[in-house]
Amino acid sequence: MLLGLLISVGIVGVMIYALIRFRARPGQEGEPPQTFGITRLEIAWTATPFVLVTLLFFVTVSAMQHSSPGQIALNDGARTEPRITIIGHQWWWEIRYPSGVVTASVLHLPVGQRWVAAIKSVDVIHSFWEPQLGPKIQAVPGQTNYIWLEADRPGVYHGSCGEFCGAGHAWMLVDVVAEPMAKFKAWEQQQMTSSLGSPPAGFTASEATQGAALFGHYSCGSCHFTAIGPSLTHMASRSLLAGGAISNTPAHMEQWLLNPDAIKPGVHMPNFQLSELQARDLTAYLESASAPQSASHSVASHWLVWNAKSHTATLTLVAGYNSALSGFNFDGYGKGGMVISVPAGAHVNVVFTNKASLPHSAVFTAYRNVQAASGGFAPAFQGASSPNPVSGTTPGQKQQFTFVATKAGTYALVCAVPGHVQAGMWDVLMVTKSGAPSIKAGKAAM
Ligand code: CUA
Repeated sequence: MLLGLLISVGIVGVMIYALIRFRARPGQEGEPPQTFGITRLEIAWTATPFVLVTLLFFVTVSAMQHSSPGQIALNDGARTEPRITIIGHQWWWEIRYPSGVVTASVLHLPVGQRWVAAIKSVDVIHSFWEPQLGPKIQAVPGQTNYIWLEADRPGVYHGSCGEFCGAGHAWMLVDVVAEPMAKFKAWEQQQMTSSLGSPPAGFTASEATQGAALFGHYSCGSCHFTAIGPSLTHMASRSLLAGGAISNTPAHMEQWLLNPDAIKPGVHMPNFQLSELQARDLTAYLESASAPQSASHSVASHWLVWNAKSHTATLTLVAGYNSALSGFNFDGYGKGGMVISVPAGAHVNVVFTNKASLPHSAVFTAYRNVQAASGGFAPAFQGASSPNPVSGTTPGQKQQFTFVATKAGTYALVCAVPGHVQAGMWDVLMVTKSGAPSIKAGKAAM
């Protein structure tokens, strides 16, 4: 700016001087004497801007390198691995921490820390824009961009998507909550707990339980557990709902569930035509909910929803839920790390989504087949397999299958695509003589 000011003062000064000094005076006729071909002057006015612009070029490049975590800035000793990953979706921001915490729309940041943020997109070009904390940066599908994210003072900073990305673009906000490190750590710890909290004021625990069953019934998890829709973990702790279209209150949640499109035109969440009572139950559940997290998540009850009346267990299985075992897992678990129990005679309705980048399948087979691993993974019950178990379900696809767990015993849940069990892609199914179904992390006692 100083340089620019100097140049404009110089130019305007000379212009004003020339206007006054060489103005037309009374009695003057025709043009003033014309001057041509002064070589020294021509060289000077060519060379000066050339030198100036060349200098400015190098100053600009060096400033650009130091203002973004590109290769050179990454060499200056700052921590280089991204401490946070921000992913643009139509139309909400997904926020992932190395601790495994995944949230949406509201980003927590410790004050005074300079974080490298990796910016990505899963669909179209978005632009992450938090004007008080850093530059605007594009979120491009198939490419990762990096920025520094740093807040000097605690507070809530408002940002948004800065690039038109479709009907919901205006409602793709992002709030940054900058807080002291201790508070940030406490928040992160709280996000990693997975017990269902108390329902919001005015709602009852039994409404929340009803809501959990509805959540399973409508397979909400097949989007919200798989980052197709925002994670709903600790939804109650967030200030924004629907990507920022409305503030997050139980009353807004009910309106949102009853007719999402009225609040956010174009939104990808369908209208499930819920009754007001159902919307209320779901609100009781979601506004007190906490769902499993990746890295250190425990398996929460809503991955397995039990309907005692119809004797049906709805089981949400996600292949490649997180990076555990390089994606060779179910719901984040493999190598027998997850145990599903259902009573004999139960109908098991499996909602299977492949979130990994390779084809995977889900088959319930005899437990001994895991040890033998000879490639034969015949279903232990009629229909206890996703279609085409050997070739697998294409990445991104969702499939449902239902079977009856007819006989008590120990079984394995495997991916029958050759080699995948060896990579660790197997868990345990216990069919008990009676009792309530459960889903647990940890090795089975057998
Ligand atoms: Cu995303 Cu505009």
